[in-house]
Formats: sequence, C-alpha cells, structure tokens
Amino acid sequence: MEFIKVTEQHRPHIALIELNRPKELNALNLQLMTEVKEALEALDKNDDVRVIVLTGNERAFAAGADIKQMAGKSAIDMAKIDQFATWDKIKKTKKPLIAAVSGFALGGGCELAMTCDMIVASETAQFGQPEIKIGVMPGAGGTQRLTRAIGKARAMEMVLTGKFISAEEALHYGLINKVVPVEMYLEAALALAKDIAQMSPIATQMAKESVNRAFETHLDEGLHFERKNFYMLFASEDQKEGMNAFVEKRKPEFKGR
Ligand code: CAA
Repeated sequence: MEFIKVTEQHRPHIALIELNRPKELNALNLQLMTEVKEALEALDKNDDVRVIVLTGNERAFAAGADIKQMAGKSAIDMAKIDQFATWDKIKKTKKPLIAAVSGFALGGGCELAMTCDMIVASETAQFGQPEIKIGVMPGAGGTQRLTRAIGKARAMEMVLTGKFISAEEALHYGLINKVVPVEMYLEAALALAKDIAQMSPIATQMAKESVNRAFETHLDEGLHFERKNFYMLFASEDQKEGMNAFVEKRKPEFKGR
C-alpha cells in the first residue's frame, strides 16, 4: 500500500486505516481509493476485526478527489474510469466504519466521510463540497448523502456556494456524531469503536445493514427487512449468550458465531 497505512489490530477487534498522502492533503487519487477499497474488503473478511476506523491526519482528512489527476480528462475518460464507483464498494463494507476527521473534509473527502457510518471530528474539522468553485459539482454522493443528512436548504447552500462548515455546525446540523479537542479526535473515534466492538459482530452488521436500509427503501419494506434480520439473529450463539447473560446477571462474551 503506497498511500494508506493499515493496522489490523490497532486495538482488540479494531482496525485502523490512515490515509497517507500528507503533502497533497490526502487528495484522493485513483490508487489511494483503490487501496482503501481493497483494505476494507480484506478487513471485512477478517473475523478478528469487528469495527474499522478511517482517518487522515490533523491537517486534513482529505481535501477531495485529486484535481490534478482529473483536470485534463474528457467526459468519456471520466465515464470509462468511473472512479466514483469505488465509493459504492466502500458503502458495501459490512462492518461498522467510523471516520475520524480533523482538518479538511472537502469534496470527495466529505463524501468519503459521509460514506462511513459515523463521523467523529476534531474542533478544527471543516466540511465542504467546494466542487462548484472549480466548475463542477459533487460526484461521489455529495448531493444525495449531504441532503439526506442535513436537509435540502443547508445542502443546497453548501453545494451551490462551496462554503465550508465548521465541526460545531456539522454537529448542530446532524452530519456528525461528536466534536472533541483536536488532540483527542482519534481516541474518541477509537473509544466509540471499542463500545461497538464489545457487541455481537453478527448483530452489529445486521443492525448497520438495517439502518442503512432506511435510506434506500420505503417504510413497510424497511420494517420487513428489519424484522427478518431480528429473527435471523436467533440463529446465532451470540443471541443465546447475550440473553442468557442478562438473565444470569453477568457480562456477555460474544464470539461472533
Ligand atoms: N487535488 C489535488 N491536489 C490537492 C487537492 C486536491 N483536491 N487539495 C489540495 N491539493 C494539493 C495542493 O495543490 C497543494 O499541492 P502543491 O504543494 O504541490 O501546490 C497541496 O495539496 C497543499 O494545498 P494548498 O497549498 O492549497 O493548501 P492551503 O492550506 O493553502 O489550502 C485547501 C487548503 C483550501 C484545502 C485547498 O488546497 C483547496 O481548496 N483544495 C481543493 C479542494 C477542492 O476543491 N476539493 C474538491 C475536489 S473535486 C471532488 O472532490 C469531486 C468529487 O465530488 C469526488
């Protein structure tokens, strides 16, 4: 891996992916995004990993798709390369995925954070979809995920003016989960990951899938999907362990079976 660092067991059951193109503010070129996709696919298959944290560095989570790589391309080139299809693959990650964001999360960087399940940010984080300033528009989910997260009026303003919002505003708008001092953002994301890693990994994956379904279907179908997943969990040893532990007044030990 040239542009990312992967630590499979950064903490027990928690993997960490660090975007590592600091001079370019982690601009998301094709190779970097392919590496992220491949790392996520591998971690998804690794039974020892239950939660994945994706981060950049203090100055930048990611300042967007790589403008220098795209600048000379034709529409046909862009359609052929179809680089934003990688985001669809990232969305398919089964395990809970937390973005730990500090500094710039712009354009594709904001879209990558929004593709994760939760966002923990430092006080210095700035979120934006500035593509309009370079003559284009968001292309990796910005008009859709941002609008669903913060509503039409605010999304429209961000997408049409390219203005950034602060971490506090992003929290207030419901885009992110929490804001912490800059020296704590990764720890806070790892603490959230630890809380989730203690649960049954089968249940967390099914719960994630069901919450995501709320954005993709109508209510009746979503409720039906949720109920099927709920009943299905009774096929797991973790369900027996969790419920028996409650009855026996002890802490459950989930094994992911
Ligand atoms: N692509 C390629 N290189 C980038 C980049 C990007 N998105 N963002 C920053 N860089 C590079 C800069 O070119 C610069 O490289 P050099 O040192 O070689 O000149 C280096 O990173 C540091 O950047 P700056 O000197 O510009 O740093 P700054 O602190 O003055 O400004 C910034 C920071 C406001 C984030 C500014 O870099 C900026 O506006 N970046 C572009 C943001 C943007 O427009 N993102 C959207 C991209 S399009 C997209 O993402 C499409 C999509 O929907 C997926």
